[in-house]
Amino acid sequence: MTQPLVLGFAGSPRHHGNSEQMLDACLAGAEGVGARVHKIVTADMSIRGCQSCQGCSLTGECVMRDQMYEVYASIDAAAAIVFSSPVYFASVPAQLKIVLDRMQPYWARTHVLKHPKPARRPGGILLARGGGDPYGFTAAEYPLRSVSAVLGIDILGEVKVSDVDSPHDVGRHPLALDHARALGARIGSAAMGERLE
Ligand SMILES: Cc1cc2nc3c(=O)[nH]c(=O)nc-3n(C[C@H](O)[C@H](O)[C@H](O)COP(=O)(O)O)c2cc1C
Repeated sequence: MTQPLVLGFAGSPRHHGNSEQMLDACLAGAEGVGARVHKIVTADMSIRGCQSCQGCSLTGECVMRDQMYEVYASIDAAAAIVFSSPVYFASVPAQLKIVLDRMQPYWARTHVLKHPKPARRPGGILLARGGGDPYGFTAAEYPLRSVSAVLGIDILGEVKVSDVDSPHDVGRHPLALDHARALGARIGSAAMGERLE
C-alpha cells in the first residue's frame, strides 16, 4: 500500500529560515509516523498571479499553463497539507499569495460548477514573525485558513513563533520546533489511518 502524502508549503522567500525550519520539523514528525512527505518552496516556482479571467468558472481548470500545474498535481495527491509562512506586513509573502490565489479553480469547481466537495483531509499552519507591528498573526492566518477551507483541510493545529528575525532565531525557541514536530506526527497519523469524513 502506498503511504499517504503529507504536502508542505514553505512560503518564505528566505530559504531555510524560521518558518521553513518549522515546516521541516513538522514534516519530520509526519515522516516519523510513516507518511511520505513533499515540500514545495513557493519562491522557487515560476507561477503567475491569478488574472480573474473566470476561465476556471467555465471548465474547472486554470488557463495559465505554468508551474502551478505541478502544485495542483501535488495537492490532488496529498492526504494532508501544511502551510508555513512568515508574516509580511500583516499578511503572507507575495510568492505564497500568488500560489494561494491560483487555488481559485478549486473554489470554482465547488461553488460555480457544483462539483462534489473534496474529501476532508488534515492539515496545519506554521507562522513566524519578527514582532513590533500591531497586527500580530491574524491577518496572515486568514488567507491560509480561507484556502484550507476550499481545499477541504481540517486544521489540526497551528504553531506560531514571535520575536524571530534572523534566519536561525527559531533555534532559540525549541518548544516551537517541538510543537511543529508533534503537530506533524498528529497530521501524519490522521492521514495514515484516521481519515476525516
Ligand atoms: C518584507 C518583510 C515584511 C515583514 N513584515 C512583518 C510584519 O508585518 N510583522 C512582523 O511581525 N514581522 C514582519 N517581518 C519579519 C518576518 O516575519 C520575520 O523576519 C520572520 O522570522 C521571517 O521568517 P522566515 O525566516 O521564515 O523568512 C517582515 C519581514 C520582511 C522581510
